[in-house]
Amino acid sequence: MEKRAYVRQIFTAIAPTYDRLNRIMSFGLDLRWRRAAVDRLGWERTSGGTFLDLCAGTLDCSAQLERRPGFRGRIVAADFVPAMLRAGSHKTRALPVTADALALPFASSTFDGAMLGWGARNLADLDRGLAEAARVLAPGARLVVLDMATPERQPLRGLYLAYFERVLPAAGRLISKHTSAYSWLPASTRAFPRPAELARRIEQAGFSGVTWSTFMGGVAALHIATRGG
Ligand SMILES: C[S@@+](CC[C@H](N)C(=O)[O-])C[C@H]1O[C@@H](n2cnc3c(N)ncnc32)[C@H](O)[C@@H]1O
Repeated sequence: MEKRAYVRQIFTAIAPTYDRLNRIMSFGLDLRWRRAAVDRLGWERTSGGTFLDLCAGTLDCSAQLERRPGFRGRIVAADFVPAMLRAGSHKTRALPVTADALALPFASSTFDGAMLGWGARNLADLDRGLAEAARVLAPGARLVVLDMATPERQPLRGLYLAYFERVLPAAGRLISKHTSAYSWLPASTRAFPRPAELARRIEQAGFSGVTWSTFMGGVAALHIATRGG
């Protein structure tokens, strides 16, 4: 099956258990990492602006941003799986939009910032998705990209791979009752560019000043980029 259809099918199936599994499998760290991403979005510069939560899923990034004291802006949350958007609709007033990140239904330079939390790895065409994000952002606006990575150093690498490749898919199968969805997580992470390469691809898509940092020895990475122009 083509990647786009496969990803859509997986997230439609796991939407009801997605949040619970995220919390369990990341030991609650996913919330902390999203907070770090929102910290770097630069929303304070245009606190009444319009922000995009791209591949928004169950709207955790939107909810994090909306809760910030002083935030007065609007959030548009785009995802191509309506069931994911519906599952998170109680968390935020963000406007849910069913849309494909590879062909966004927004005019150029619409947004004052964008968050892409654990979405990049799932895109059928990463470069096209990044180029679309660049197109809809205003010059000077920031993009924050949060996603999985693989620690480079032993012994953490070995321990992490054992957890990620064996324990996590088995736990995911048990809780979500979906046979393959949680094998997709390690498989897609293996195929995903390393942080330095991802930084290069983000820059190539029309961003400048790309910086990145990792969490917990490299199990997740946060990239911050500014829309050139
Ligand atoms: C791992 S979830 C991340 C959700 C959320 N951002 C978070 O922080 O939990 C990935 C989401 O990306 C969405 N997605 C993947 N490819 C997409 C595309 N081409 N267009 C829109 N959404 C997409 C999936 O439907 C899914 O909801």
